Amino acid sequence: DKGGWSSFMAKEINDQPDAVANTIRGRLHDGQVEIPELTALGDEVLRNIDRIIIIACGTASYAGMTGTYAIEQWARVPVEVQLSHEFRYRDPVLTDRTLLISVSQSGETMDTLMAVKYAVERGVKTISVCNTQSATIPRESHAAVYTHAGPEVAVASTKAYVAQITALYLIGLHIARVRGTMSAEETQQAAHQLDELPEKFREAVATHEQVAQLAHWMADTRSVLFLGRHVGYPTALEGALKLKEIAYIHAEGFAAGELKHGPIALIDHGQPVFVIVPSPRTAPIMHSKVVSNIQEIRARGARVIAIVEVGDTSVLPYADDVIRLPLADALFEPLLQVVPLQWFALELSTAKGLDVDQPRNLAKSVTVE
Ligand code: F6R
Repeated sequence: DKGGWSSFMAKEINDQPDAVANTIRGRLHDGQVEIPELTALGDEVLRNIDRIIIIACGTASYAGMTGTYAIEQWARVPVEVQLSHEFRYRDPVLTDRTLLISVSQSGETMDTLMAVKYAVERGVKTISVCNTQSATIPRESHAAVYTHAGPEVAVASTKAYVAQITALYLIGLHIARVRGTMSAEETQQAAHQLDELPEKFREAVATHEQVAQLAHWMADTRSVLFLGRHVGYPTALEGALKLKEIAYIHAEGFAAGELKHGPIALIDHGQPVFVIVPSPRTAPIMHSKVVSNIQEIRARGARVIAIVEVGDTSVLPYADDVIRLPLADALFEPLLQVVPLQWFALELSTAKGLDVDQPRNLAKSVTVE
């Protein structure tokens, strides 16, 4: 049931405030995160780890990339993402102090399942972040942290993505509590950010109309670039993937700092570029770097669509369009920033008369290697 929406994807974008609230429910008590499934795994396991590998494919891998920044900052453990289908073939170094976290909406992605089995056989503890109850991957893992985002029908993942990031953040905060790596103040601040997320998602979802207009004007666009820094980088990759998947146009995401190492040569008159701008309050240095990147591409003729936090006027002289989102701490911004990118892909696909929910050549879950 599309609940009155024109597509499942539209419904699922709109469902995100509830999806995220459901991921958090029962896991945040008095400002502390405790995930019962991880407590069952044993605090000793989490205290002992010296490395975390997140494995996933596609959108789930971008959720994983976003998670690396937060988990590493909070739990002070090195965290990296590897694509499931690359993982086994590199003969990875795994020890009894390695923790593997898989991320999969369906819980059936064959490459991710094979990577989990490979790790389990080598004595590595595995946690599954999954949206589908009793799927194969959570059953093959030592612990399952369900996202509880509700069934996702559209092929392009939206609510599962933000729920995956939220679940990874909860895991990071759980591990940080067990390892004692965060101050009381930092813990409180993160809990506060989690508490406020569903309400902020409501505001992010409300960018729909503005973004729909933009997509309408851009219906003939053949290429779109996305730039981000830090947690804005995986967001840029995700924005580009959504556009490829459902609007069938060339789209690429870049780390903003890479621009001058090559991609800036792509910037030509009228080239649309979405720029994910970090908060000037909570990430002032990154903010000023990204504003310089905007100036650089604008000087070369780019059409800049800036995604900023409300009240940030620094980009106004250089941006053709500005999309404003509610205030959030730097690590929590990507959750909100992806929402207008999801709307943009949906509206561009619609403007081109395509099937938003069932893009060509794609299946909802990829159960072959
Ligand atoms: C993109 C998308 C895919 C999936 C990927 C992993 O919108 O849906 O990139 O994210 O196939 O699927 P799961 O999460 O089911 O393992």
